[in-house]
Amino acid sequence: MSERISPASRVSGEVCLPGDKSISHRYAMLASIAEGESRIHNFSTGADCHSTLGCMRAFGIRADEQGADVTIQGGGLDGLKAAAADLDAGNSGSTIRMLSGILAAQPFTTRIGGDESLSRRPMERIMKPLGQMGALITARDGRFPPLEIRGAKLRPVDYTLPVPSAQVKSCVLFAGLYADGATIVREPVRSRDHTEIALREFGAEIRVERRVITLQGRPRLTGRELFVPSDLSSAAFFIVAALLVPDSNLVLRGVGLNPMRSTLLDVLVSMGASIQILNVEQQNGELVGQILVKHSRIRGGVIEKETTAALIDEIPVLAVLGAASEEGLDVRDAGELRIKETDRIATIAENLHRMGIEAEVSPDGIRIPGRQRFHAAELDSFGDHRIAMAFSIASLVANGPCEIHGAEAASVSFPEFYRILRQVTA
Ligand code: S3P
Repeated sequence: MSERISPASRVSGEVCLPGDKSISHRYAMLASIAEGESRIHNFSTGADCHSTLGCMRAFGIRADEQGADVTIQGGGLDGLKAAAADLDAGNSGSTIRMLSGILAAQPFTTRIGGDESLSRRPMERIMKPLGQMGALITARDGRFPPLEIRGAKLRPVDYTLPVPSAQVKSCVLFAGLYADGATIVREPVRSRDHTEIALREFGAEIRVERRVITLQGRPRLTGRELFVPSDLSSAAFFIVAALLVPDSNLVLRGVGLNPMRSTLLDVLVSMGASIQILNVEQQNGELVGQILVKHSRIRGGVIEKETTAALIDEIPVLAVLGAASEEGLDVRDAGELRIKETDRIATIAENLHRMGIEAEVSPDGIRIPGRQRFHAAELDSFGDHRIAMAFSIASLVANGPCEIHGAEAASVSFPEFYRILRQVTA
């Protein structure tokens, strides 16, 4: 499917976006192994989180959906049953990596794979710590999905993450739920902490001191009512759209503002963005609030080190903003971008070039000079949701309509994207 996106004269209105993908995955997994019923409101509408729900159902867990509300009947820590067939994680790295932590502790063997993109994503990062805990995992070529996970009685581990990855951290913590004693995860670079917050909400005993997380095994997790905030990574596309298009004035309601994710807003404000945050409150341990964003002149600058790690999902759309900024954008320390749903350094650069935008790539970064003009072009998602959406936003400031091929990829995280884009653009 392709989408034709025309230039916009302004971006305005007030919208409420679907639930956060990261938080929805965690709630679905934890609700399934908690005791009793959980009611999750504003669950992500993206295909990725439905891959997680599909997997949990394959283990005999009842999950009923009513619009964006999901009710899950948890079976307790030991309530999962062996799946009758191989599991399909679709496009979702979060599903396969985080769920593996739970599967490593089950008294049965599970095979889990996914689509072509997922089948190229590295899994040694979870196989290593889970192996140290006692699980037996085999993978295609020793490192790619599908995985065969033979569950075992797990030992606790004291593990230092070799890469900044919330998925790996969560995988080890989920496995740690099943090990007797304290599992410790040390993070050299902090990553999003939705798992730590969610575990506490469900009743686990978890301590976080600086970058050391200690979880007591075999807790009693209890089902509960949960509200998922709107996804800031989805909001990022609309925030950048409003910053780029003259006369824009956009309000986003109920957005997740977890400090580990809202680095995006700090960086944008430091570059001159007019962004206001209103009505901040806490929901299930997560910060939620309203974002007001107005068209602004953006200075640009350098994104590197832990800031790159905190903004990793937003780099595609920030690259677009960078090309229009005063000084351009220099993204460094972004090797992880090469192993996302696509090699995002390559797919960003390819689409920028198609639009006549200069960009210089390196093994772990991309530098985009500022004050460039976007030319109408045929663009491609390359099957990557964030690339489809980032270049839809670039199309709003092109000198004519653009065609996005493979536009349907957006539904991996944000099926309503094009509808809402039409609603807020004029
Ligand atoms: C996620 C962590 C990040 C991010 C992904 C979601 C999560 O991946 O890119 O979209 O929900 O924990 P890594 O853990 O590979 O950095």
